[in-house]
Amino acid sequence: MRRFIGAVVCAVGLLPGVSGAEELRLAVPEALKASGLAQFIVPRFSLKTSVRITRVDEGAAAEMQFTDGGTAVFQGAGQRWGLEHNGDPRAVRFLDWLRSDVGKRTIESFTAEDGTTYSAELTVVKAELDVSFDGDSNKGEALSLTLCGRCHVINESNRMNGMGSTPSFRVLRSFSDWDRRFANFHLLNPHPSFTQIDGVTDPFDPSLPSPIVPVELTVDDLEAILAYVSGVTPADLGAPLQLQ
Ligand code: HEC
Repeated sequence: MRRFIGAVVCAVGLLPGVSGAEELRLAVPEALKASGLAQFIVPRFSLKTSVRITRVDEGAAAEMQFTDGGTAVFQGAGQRWGLEHNGDPRAVRFLDWLRSDVGKRTIESFTAEDGTTYSAELTVVKAELDVSFDGDSNKGEALSLTLCGRCHVINESNRMNGMGSTPSFRVLRSFSDWDRRFANFHLLNPHPSFTQIDGVTDPFDPSLPSPIVPVELTVDDLEAILAYVSGVTPADLGAPLQLQ
């Protein structure tokens, strides 16, 4: 079996769509295989759906694979896992199941021999960012104006462009925890629906595309913005003010 798989390894790992009675293979990376999670969830899915899945090693030809990319499905032992597939309807069904309440409960009911558990609650995956303040503040000002200035008043130069209901950067800078709010603005409403940070946020759900022109940036860009905002004079608000 091992030799056979070796012979059909294809460069991308995923073969074009196959349907019907063809084998549905799931490539499982070593780290996950060792924990036993895939071994635990696959039969439970098959029992419910009569869709049979053959587990194969990472790199072997497969219709779907657990990877650190793809659509996020669970996380554990410091890593986030996603599922990539070739569009096979059975693979789509597996993905839907993994993201359903039953699938999530199944994932979370598993404990590996070494005590590792997995969480299907992926908001935690969008972990709080630990960003520095030593970015390029000039670049940060330019980025703030182009990316955030559509809604926020950044400084005098876009004073007339911000949206009235949106707090200005000077007001936001006056909060004692302004740094935490800026470092994680992508998690705070209304930003999640339209913000993508390279390598940090998940791609938009295709069924929920960004309602407006998305704000796209890198962690570097965010550090530049933080560097800029750290130098912004806080608004003098008198008494402390609550945002919501
Ligand atoms: C499409 C409009 C829009 C864009 C673009 C936008 N914001 Fe906001 N932002 C808002 C609104 C509206 C609020 C106020 C939300 C509230 O009060 O609940 C807000 C609030 C914030 C807050 C405070 C959040 C909190 O809950 O503490 C921060 C920090 C922030 N924005 C940073 C940014 C940064 C940085 C950018 C650019 C990279 C940006 N925003 C781009 C609309 C926008």
